[in-house]
This record gives sequence, C-alpha cells and structure tokens, in this order.
Amino acid sequence: MKSIVVYDSQFGNTKLIAEAIGRALGLSGRVFVMHASDVQPGDLMGINRLIVGSPTQQLSAAPAVLNWIKTIPRDGLRGVRAAAFDTRFTEEKISRTKVLPFFMRIFGYGAKPISDRLEKKGAEIILPPEGFYVADTEGPLLEWELERAAEWIRKM
Ligand SMILES: Cc1cc2nc3c(=O)[nH]c(=O)nc-3n(C[C@H](O)[C@H](O)[C@H](O)COP(=O)(O)O)c2cc1C
Repeated sequence: MKSIVVYDSQFGNTKLIAEAIGRALGLSGRVFVMHASDVQPGDLMGINRLIVGSPTQQLSAAPAVLNWIKTIPRDGLRGVRAAAFDTRFTEEKISRTKVLPFFMRIFGYGAKPISDRLEKKGAEIILPPEGFYVADTEGPLLEWELERAAEWIRKM
C-alpha cells in the first residue's frame, strides 16, 4: 500500500496535520509526506491513497495546491482513493469578524474545492472534506487536532 500526503503550509500548521496523517497511514504501508511544490509526476505512479491538505486562504485552498492538482493529467487519479483536508479559523473566531461569516457561508473553506478537483481527476473520494482548527492566523492548532487528524484518516 503506497500513500502520499501532499500539502501546502504558510505557517507550519497544515504541515503538522499532514505529518500526523502520514504517521497514522504509516501503520499500514509506505507513506510519503510532501509539499505540493516538491511532487514530481512520477511520485503518483502506483499510489493507492492520496491525501491533500491546505490552509484555507481567502475562502479557498492555497494556490500551490490548486495549481499542483491542475498538473495531474485527466483521469490521472483513476483507481486512487483520496481525501482532502484544510486548516481554518474556528466558527467562533469567524463570527467575531464583520464580513467573513457571510462569505464563509457562501464560499466555505479549502478542503471542498480540493476534494472536488481530485474527483474530477478520477479519484474515488472516500472521506468527506475535513477541517482542522487554528487559534489564529499563524496558529497554533487547537488542542487535540493532531489526534483528531489521525482519527479522521484511520476511517479511510
Ligand atoms: C491570506 C490569508 C487568508 C486567510 N483566509 C481565511 C479564510 O478565508 N477562512 C479561514 O477560516 N481562515 C483563513 N485564514 C487563516 C488560515 O486558514 C490559517 O492561517 C491557516 O490555517 C494556518 O495554516 P498554515 O500554518 O499551514 O499556513 C487565512 C490566512 C491567511 C494568511
């Protein structure tokens, strides 16, 4: 079983979640945790599982991740089981800002656009998109989010 966890991370929080997911997956096969800009086309050869994560930025995923997915050929993820995650503000923090609650309701977070794009490339999405919470823009992650990430991916 070969798995790849691909991520982008501006302040390191999404990287920590990606690594926690990688450790959890490592219990059942070979796992590579890679920044989106380091992934080479050959890295996707023979993979069984692909997990992609990004910080939520401006109501979507980071350009590094979305641009990387664009480079995957049409049907390039056929036969691959996939899941997407993001890191994001808590609803409580969003509700304290003026305009963000309105836009968040319409546009949402980073994981869903990733998941939709992976599916369009032929992947079988086997977990609903998930979000992990940061206390502020630069983090830290809320307590237990690393454990929750490991639990989430074990459902795969
Ligand atoms: C430019 C920018 C835009 C952001 N936009 C959002 C947003 O729309 N919704 C949200 O929940 N968090 C938003 N955030 C908070 C990020 O999600 C947070 O910085 C991220 O989870 C931290 O992960 P990282 O350490 O991997 O970069 C934004 C942060 C930055 C820097």
